[in-house]
Amino acid sequence: MIDAITELRDAGLARIAAAQTSAELEQLRIALLGRKAELPNLLRGVAELPPEQRGPVGRAANEARGALEAALETAGARIAAAELEARLLSDRIDITLPADPLPRPGRLHLLTQVRREIEDVFIGLGFRIEEGPEIESVYFNFDALNHDPTHPARLESDTFYLSELPGAPEEMAGRLLLRTHTSPMQVRAMLATPPPIAIIVPGRVYRRDSDVTHTPQFHQIEGLVVAEDITLADLKGTLLAFSRAIFGPDREIRLRPHFFPFTEPSVEVDVSCFNCDHGRLADDSRCPLCKGTTWIEILGAGMVDPNVLGHVTANGYDPERHQGFAFGMGIERIAMLKHGIGDLRLLYDNDLRFLEQF
Ligand code: PHE
Repeated sequence: MIDAITELRDAGLARIAAAQTSAELEQLRIALLGRKAELPNLLRGVAELPPEQRGPVGRAANEARGALEAALETAGARIAAAELEARLLSDRIDITLPADPLPRPGRLHLLTQVRREIEDVFIGLGFRIEEGPEIESVYFNFDALNHDPTHPARLESDTFYLSELPGAPEEMAGRLLLRTHTSPMQVRAMLATPPPIAIIVPGRVYRRDSDVTHTPQFHQIEGLVVAEDITLADLKGTLLAFSRAIFGPDREIRLRPHFFPFTEPSVEVDVSCFNCDHGRLADDSRCPLCKGTTWIEILGAGMVDPNVLGHVTANGYDPERHQGFAFGMGIERIAMLKHGIGDLRLLYDNDLRFLEQF
């Protein structure tokens, strides 16, 4: 009897020592010590043994059960540690691996791309980039730019005025607005930099307009060159270089007389159409871009009016000695022409199907 117990114990200890997983160990615990296992059965049978055997057999069986329980516990700890180690190794996150799915690279909005493209052209021509405030004074937006007191752009129906601006001096009431063009920076820049000056000014502008071809907020790029001996030919050469860089090397430009309060003479500038042959498409239909005229209007420009220089004489600008040219273009317009976009609102809808094409 005692031999059988010793055998059960030794066999059990060997199987426990060989166990590799906690599941295996649990099976062993049930097989060796569970209700249907042999050793507990033996213990239950001790009562039926002759009295002189009960003591030794009972002791041996208890001792064997204790040994198995201790071995199960030790093995349990060993296996748990090994399993934890294995899990830590396999669960290690490799942060150098690319995310899945690979995130698609982003891109700049078309308006930003076109703005930068235009900036690059003018930087190549020797211009500096300046930026100015979007909240502007009536003085810089209109007065210093030679606008007649009755000029229609001054009307509240055309321009966003700021009724009150926290912290602004009282005398500014009704004198602050959202700039309607980037031209106020002409005067601000000349007050900050003595002649000669060659700058472009990209930025947001605001007008009380909203329809298919107008949004209340849009973007312009202003250009200003003032020095001695600047002529209309410099304006034309500069804008020809710009037009060829943006719209293709075969472009021509033409100047048409126009009016702006702060340039004299003033012109509108057209670029030769890059979409058609003499106003006709391949199927002989009328070109929709130039409407068959072979010319596309791209911007307003002119020679800086001496009256504007009169506002910056304190910084060395002499209307008798200095001349200059200025121009202003809409970035949206350039982008739409260049990429054949028919609806201005597409630029602001943020529909990825549209934006991802550029
Ligand atoms: N500021 C004018 C506009 O917004 C454009 C312009 C700029 C014209 C500079 C002439 C010179 O329409």
